[in-house]
Amino acid sequence: MNNLTNGRLPAYRAVITGHGSFAPEKLLTNDELAEMVDTSDEWITTRTGIKVRHVTTEDQSTALLATQAAKKALETANLDPKDVELIIVATITPEMVFPSTASFVQRALKAKKAWVFDLAAACSGFVYGLSIVQQFIESGRHKNALVIGAETLTKITDWTDRSSCILFGDGAGAVVLERSQDGRKGILYSTMHSDGNRWEALNCQAYGSRYPVSKKLDDPKKVYMQIKGREVYQQAIRRIVETVNNCLHACDLTIDEVAMLVSHQMNARIIESAAKRLKLPDEKVFININEYGNTSAASVPIAFDECVRNGKIKRGDIVILVAFGAGLTWGANVIEF
Ligand code: ACO
Repeated sequence: MNNLTNGRLPAYRAVITGHGSFAPEKLLTNDELAEMVDTSDEWITTRTGIKVRHVTTEDQSTALLATQAAKKALETANLDPKDVELIIVATITPEMVFPSTASFVQRALKAKKAWVFDLAAACSGFVYGLSIVQQFIESGRHKNALVIGAETLTKITDWTDRSSCILFGDGAGAVVLERSQDGRKGILYSTMHSDGNRWEALNCQAYGSRYPVSKKLDDPKKVYMQIKGREVYQQAIRRIVETVNNCLHACDLTIDEVAMLVSHQMNARIIESAAKRLKLPDEKVFININEYGNTSAASVPIAFDECVRNGKIKRGDIVILVAFGAGLTWGANVIEF
């Protein structure tokens, strides 16, 4: 007997019925970055796996990317926006301080029935969002929801810092979740974690209430993302391995039963190293960081969308979505697709 639902049978199951992604057209290659800072295509490729990233233009914002991805997800789900009940946008690069990015997405989609909010859990935002929707659908409170991960990280990137500016890109991914109608189990299990003691490992400090725009910054770099790369690297591998093992144990699964691991794309070496420790063969680990860089909350849904579109994830497959990011935050969802 497995422990899929923590000892209780849910009234309903939450299945993914639609998926989509969107990335801005403009590309920034490693060679172009090498003209901006002291780096090289060779260094970036061997240390991170990244070759190119998509970047927004001045007039492209997070809500625009989120809306484009959401439209594609609604189309594949064949769900009319006016029937959507809940919209969550996972992002750390919101449209404005307030209202939420989700408010702009709701407006653009004309999804009048929905209640909407943003979720700030950095790279783990999308898996956190799935876990929240799982509760609402399993309890019977909602029949459907839209979860979007959308970021414009290049707008808070320090383009003079070679250790961080090589890592990030912009994009959005989305899924529609609905109450299962055909016996599919959908989300089998979710596990979420946080460690606020390590907030300094990854942050962007201005302009919140601690450093409001009215106060002169002691360090002008506080307007940009700051990362302690080594610390993140080590923590990420440890937490991904631990979380996937937790999923296997909770769901009574062996690693052989997992068809695909869709990880947050923070560094190809981190994902490969975690996969090796989990004894997952290369063909069961999806990596597309080479084309996108790290897109934080958008990376898991972009990767998931690509896997489904390319036939790497098929109906009935067991898939683990796993993420790790600022907060620190980490978590995973086990899905029968
Ligand atoms: N080009 C050339 N050399 C570089 C570059 C660069 N772009 N960046 C750093 N170096 C140099 C350093 O100065 C250092 O030189 P030194 O030995 O002379 O001092 C050397 O390369 C090694 O630097 P490390 O920082 O130790 O390099 P490492 O192998 O750890 O790779 C990296 C750095 C890629 C950042 C890695 O630590 C990493 O991927 N960390 C996790 C990713 C991460 O933090 N993602 C952010 C997530 S935040 C979010 O998603 C919102």
